[in-house]
Amino acid sequence: IKRVTTNTLQEMKNRGEKIAMLTAYDYSMAKIVDDAGMDVILVGDSASNVMAGHETTLPITLDQMIYHASSVVRGASRSLVVVDLPFGSYQGNSKEALNSAIRIMKEAGAHAVKIEGGVEIAESVSRILTAGIPVMGHLGLTPQSIYKFGTYTVRAKEEAEAQKLKEDALKLQELGCFGVVLEKIPAALAKEVTESLQIPTIGIGAGQHCSGQVLVIHDMLGLNKGFRPRFLRQYASLYDVMNEAIKGYVSDVKAEDFPNEKEQY
Ligand code: KIV
Ligand code: NA
Repeated sequence: IKRVTTNTLQEMKNRGEKIAMLTAYDYSMAKIVDDAGMDVILVGDSASNVMAGHETTLPITLDQMIYHASSVVRGASRSLVVVDLPFGSYQGNSKEALNSAIRIMKEAGAHAVKIEGGVEIAESVSRILTAGIPVMGHLGLTPQSIYKFGTYTVRAKEEAEAQKLKEDALKLQELGCFGVVLEKIPAALAKEVTESLQIPTIGIGAGQHCSGQVLVIHDMLGLNKGFRPRFLRQYASLYDVMNEAIKGYVSDVKAEDFPNEKEQY
């Protein structure tokens, strides 16, 4: 099978074919996602929340991201694998950012990195790009800045923040990013940004006009029972499916029904 590349994504945007992106954090899930025909698998730092149980994305380390990413790469034969640069691995200076990106490419075998922010991180983005590493931007509700925002509510509703976001998107394109994630911003703003850019935009809670969409796999499969924001479409209720299966196992063990005669040696 032919691997999706950053060029493939640009061609998709050019011909108006929407890009499907979903997170995965381990080999088995990546294999299912890849087999389903996903264009892009994101090894998101949302692993900090859904895999490790942290309240925010801040605690996850570069080593932990590399562990998740290397597992996903082994499960993905067709999808482009993009990996988040975690909090603290790029903000210091552009050399630190480049070293972190190199570790992700080299130790995990990833195909691209994603990094949160706009003009503030321009130098880091361009230094990573200079090394031949494809970079995806991430604007709007950037969860690594949650303590600055103070809330997970919609961003860029005010004109000043919307204006800065538009400038940041153009800057990321000018630097050479192959795409940009737009998280939780008004659909009208995402439409405007998407139309102003040549490169694809990938939305999450950013409406129908983006060049593609991304979701966190635990959320869309219904593994995260309590999390039901407006932007989320839940495609399965795996929490309930798994809970029933596991309860069945517990009760079969207690009832001495499992294992039966045929299930032993
Ligand atoms: O970490 C993540 O899952 C993400 C997506 C929500 C865009 O960055
Ligand atoms: Na992320």
